[in-house]
Amino acid sequence: MKICTLGAGYVGLVAATCFAELGNEVICVDVDSERISKLKKGIMPIYEPGLKELVDRNVKEGRLEFTTDAKQGIRDAEIIFICVGTPPKEDGSVNLEYVETVAAEIGRYMNGYKIIATKSTVPVGTNEHIQEVIRQNQKNKVRFDIVSLPEFLREGAAVKDFFNPDRTIIGTDSEKAAEVMVKLHKPLERVGKPIMVTDIKSAELIKYASNAFLSTKISFINEIARLCEKVGADVKKVAQGMGLDERIGSRFLQAGVGYGGSCFPKDVLGLMSLGKQHGVDFKIVRAVDQVNKEQRTYLINKVLSVHKKLGDKKIAVWGLAFKPKTDDVREAPALTIVKELQYLGAKIKAFDPVAEENAKKILTDVEYTKDPYEAVKGCHILVIVTEWDEFRNIDLQKIRSLMKEPNIVDGRNIYEPAEMKKFGFVYKSIGRPDA
Ligand code: UDX
Ligand code: UDX
Repeated sequence: MKICTLGAGYVGLVAATCFAELGNEVICVDVDSERISKLKKGIMPIYEPGLKELVDRNVKEGRLEFTTDAKQGIRDAEIIFICVGTPPKEDGSVNLEYVETVAAEIGRYMNGYKIIATKSTVPVGTNEHIQEVIRQNQKNKVRFDIVSLPEFLREGAAVKDFFNPDRTIIGTDSEKAAEVMVKLHKPLERVGKPIMVTDIKSAELIKYASNAFLSTKISFINEIARLCEKVGADVKKVAQGMGLDERIGSRFLQAGVGYGGSCFPKDVLGLMSLGKQHGVDFKIVRAVDQVNKEQRTYLINKVLSVHKKLGDKKIAVWGLAFKPKTDDVREAPALTIVKELQYLGAKIKAFDPVAEENAKKILTDVEYTKDPYEAVKGCHILVIVTEWDEFRNIDLQKIRSLMKEPNIVDGRNIYEPAEMKKFGFVYKSIGRPDA
């Protein structure tokens, strides 16, 4: 089929490339001309494992092209995906200005029947609003159908998740649109991993409810971790035991420094604000957000339990991305943690394998290093904020010898307390006994 994606960000670029890989012809549009010119040269604007190879192959085979010309993309395609950003506003409600901009463009440029599918995460009722905006901007009345098609891709696993979805949710009230979208997604259907066709509003809410529920699991285990420390239990073992119950499941029960990224924080706030608009007070979700914000302070307090005064201390920070395998620092715990440590007077040396460029735009006055060993050299404390795999098999002996003092505060529980004791570290982590 002929597809156009409006927005070439984490959502749009991955969707465009993967739909091309499935044999469709895709035009990927973005207003950011620098982003498009980089893509035309095969330079990826985001770090996503496996994406570049797919882009190169599909561009070479003529199924994928990049342009800033939305008009061309809209006119050529039969299905148009809205993949622009939906960032939170000051008050937590969702900023729909970019969605409205592209909806107006679609209205202006469409030259025949189109299916408009919204991949961006939008509050319930937005697709109806998109329909209105398109109608208002149409010169002459042209039939079209709206589909809510939420994406569930995790950054750092987006390509994998695209080809192995647990489910595809298609929200529409048009038989015809449902038929076309089911056909488009058919290659992704597996036994037990169905395509679910439902109404638009339910599809919009499935996305928010899913992200808010996953966030709830994380804040829940982070609260359990606080009790574990008080009573001497081990949160990793508690989570393991809980997860063996199929009704609970073991994923998203890793205690740590809290969730970040461009989805959970904004979707939790978005759901709360949506509730408020309709007179529903989301008490659980509000607590989830509060626990998550406190988790950063919880880690800072562990640092202060090693040294009360940080004025003349050098602190190494490992990991700046909001999670491993991504360069994305949006809402990353490291942003608040580094700023707080600097506020308390510490000098920061930081290392992240891929997110350094993005972090530099926000975190100033930090010494960025090229590897984890250089980061810890001469430092009083090492704080681990993102659990990059390369930290797991690090040479701890060497780390010990490079540090001024052997103090580690592990915000992602990547090491074992007993092991750290053997190396002579003062080791603090989340929800487990100190070593
Ligand atoms: C983000 C969130 O990650 C996702 O959860 C949410 O559903 C949508 O917003 P993402 O792809 O990460 O999705 O957004 P972003 O990386 O900001 O990319 C959006 C792209 O759209 C940008 O490249 C921007 O230049 C482009 N854009 C924006 C347009 O092409 N036209 C516009 O009018 C506005
Ligand atoms: C999430 C959802 O998983 C995905 O379905 C949706 O489309 C977009 O939002 P993403 O934000 O990319 O994906 O990352 P994810 O792997 O879900 O992790 C989100 C945050 O939770 C990260 O900061 C991660 O460090 C944290 N996390 C995750 C935990 O703290 N503990 C866990 O057990 C799992």
